[in-house]
Amino acid sequence: MVSKGLLRLISSVNRRRMKLLLGIALLAYAASVWGNFVNMRSIQENGELKFESKIEEIVEPLREKIRDLEKSFTQKYPPVKFLSEKDRKRILITGGAGFVGSHLTDKLMMDGHEVTVVDNFFTGRKRNVEHWIGHENFELINHDVVEPLYIEVDQIYHLASPASPPNYMYNPIKTLKTNTIGTLNMLGLAKRVGARLLLASTSEVYGDPEVHPQSEDYWGHVNPIGPRACYDEGKRVAETMCYAYMKQEGVEVRVARIFNTFGPRMHMNDGRVVSNFILQALQGEPLTVYGSGSQTRAFQYVSDLVNGLVALMNSNVSSPVNLGNPEEHTILEFAQLIKNLVGSGSEIQFLSEAQDDPQKRKPDIKKAKLMLGWEPVVPLEEGLNKAIHYFRKELEYQANNQYIPKPKPARVKKGRTRHS
Ligand SMILES: NC(=O)c1ccc[n+]([C@@H]2O[C@H](COP(=O)([O-])OP(=O)(O)OC[C@H]3O[C@@H](n4cnc5c(N)ncnc54)[C@H](O)[C@@H]3O)[C@@H](O)[C@H]2O)c1
Repeated sequence: MVSKGLLRLISSVNRRRMKLLLGIALLAYAASVWGNFVNMRSIQENGELKFESKIEEIVEPLREKIRDLEKSFTQKYPPVKFLSEKDRKRILITGGAGFVGSHLTDKLMMDGHEVTVVDNFFTGRKRNVEHWIGHENFELINHDVVEPLYIEVDQIYHLASPASPPNYMYNPIKTLKTNTIGTLNMLGLAKRVGARLLLASTSEVYGDPEVHPQSEDYWGHVNPIGPRACYDEGKRVAETMCYAYMKQEGVEVRVARIFNTFGPRMHMNDGRVVSNFILQALQGEPLTVYGSGSQTRAFQYVSDLVNGLVALMNSNVSSPVNLGNPEEHTILEFAQLIKNLVGSGSEIQFLSEAQDDPQKRKPDIKKAKLMLGWEPVVPLEEGLNKAIHYFRKELEYQANNQYIPKPKPARVKKGRTRHS
């Protein structure tokens, strides 16, 4: 009995001790875990500090680079005149990222105006106006003129429309919509905000002309259902709309009938004679002349056109005005001149004559001379040299980007090819 009681006493004492020991061990373990944790945090914090200072070392020179770039960006724009509030106009250029529109943008920006370019980039490119992006007087809007546009402007140069045969024949319905609905939208905008609108019309409103040279009072000779009608008739109805808005709503309109124009930023492979010859000469391919090459063409340099557009916009002439260069050259002369200017070894290749190829195309610019005091001043060779320089650079650029444009064959009409 005694020994049993003794045993129970001992074991209960041991159990208490055991519990005590276990408790101490647990506390010690918790303390050691906490210690490790605190230790690790301080190592981590130390590491983070070191890491941050390393990043700072890398980032600081980058920050400096950005500051330098920002400084150089503020100086990147071409020089812009300062115009007082009353002389500075808010100008909208539809199709302003295209060939003519981008040169017009340059002129109006450099003259000190506020320019908004609206373009859907069908044939235009951001590259044509990228040198203005970020300038406080410049805005670029990706917009299709077939949709209405609501902005405040004083003048509208309405250029939006594909201009070369492959481009306007690519989607004839869209070409029609752009020239009709697009023009209605821009005239509606002009009416709403009291702006003056200049329409970039074309010599194509004269169609296949029966009179030479063509003056503004010639009504034209257009096939309303031919493959080019989407453009020719589109522009004719656009002119009609301008005069309807002028008569009915009092909108101030200006209509420029533009003849063939060339220069930097023109489309390289649009199948027109100047671009074809330059591309062929630069790429060492034969310059293709249709027929004997005795048919004549007249081309104006783009800066002459731009000066004419601005003079017309700011004139009080509301009836249509031809803008073109009346200096005629035979196609063969063009081919030889371009070949010589490029310094190309290409030969001239004669292909069969196209029956409906107009023998002459030449603007009568008496009205522009008399009423605007305007006439083209850039000599053909000078203009061609600038265009050749541009094409050469573009070919290099495109070769680096794996794209080599090919000259297009002259356009096809009634199953036959012909020069534009
Ligand atoms: N270049 C010439 O020899 C010539 C001759 C006669 C008339 N024109 C007229 O001058 C204007 C400009 O011609 P270009 O040679 O600069 O042609 P382009 O193709 O280089 O420029 C036309 C511009 O309009 C834009 N555009 C087309 N459809 C549009 C739409 N629905 N909404 C918004 N933007 C649209 C295109 O993206 C492009 O930027 C055109 O109206 C053309 O009919 C040009």
